[in-house]
Amino acid sequence: MKKIIVLNFKTYSSDVKSVEDAKGYDNVFIAPPLPLLSESVKIHDNVLSQHADPVTYGRYTGHVPPVMLKDLGVKGVLLNHSEDRIAFNILKETVDMCKQNKLLTIVCAQSPDEVKEISGLHPDYIAIEPPELIGTGIAVSEAEPDIIIKSIRQSNVPILCGAGISSSEDVKKALELGAYGVLIASAYIKNKKRKEWLEDIVSLF
Ligand code: G3P
Repeated sequence: MKKIIVLNFKTYSSDVKSVEDAKGYDNVFIAPPLPLLSESVKIHDNVLSQHADPVTYGRYTGHVPPVMLKDLGVKGVLLNHSEDRIAFNILKETVDMCKQNKLLTIVCAQSPDEVKEISGLHPDYIAIEPPELIGTGIAVSEAEPDIIIKSIRQSNVPILCGAGISSSEDVKKALELGAYGVLIASAYIKNKKRKEWLEDIVSLF
């Protein structure tokens, strides 16, 4: 698997400028707000959905069917984020259905123990994110390196890490620890010079 940077836009903004600013890099994946998916796939090659449900075409009001993400041109899914937790049995069904639809699967975990459990589902990547560091600007790679090391040991799939990652130093440290990449939200989306900032981060890969 290749090393990647995932930019999670959460629901910070409806402005597609954030999608524009992240395009042009093979290893940069973006997860825009769901209402911006249709527009985002026209602009960016590596779009992820922030959610999916284990359903297909039919009577599923309010659900996000993997097959329809595929139809739209979405490349993959970011599942089980701390802000959108999914029960394990549903997560398993969702990962399976996303794989059947050839979507890249990135599943978040809150602890190394959870990484172990989720690695049994064989997603493409697992992203370890200690919830207490999310949005703080205190990087998991600097503040809790052991969590990344333990997660890598516990997993048979590549590990990404996220929470508080803000600077190129934080990213460098994550890669040195053996992570296959990083998940970043606020440091990108709230950044007034996000293009330059992203270029710096990409140059580390
Ligand atoms: O999915 C990434 C996210 O939860 C990390 O958030 O704002 O700490 O980069 P942030």
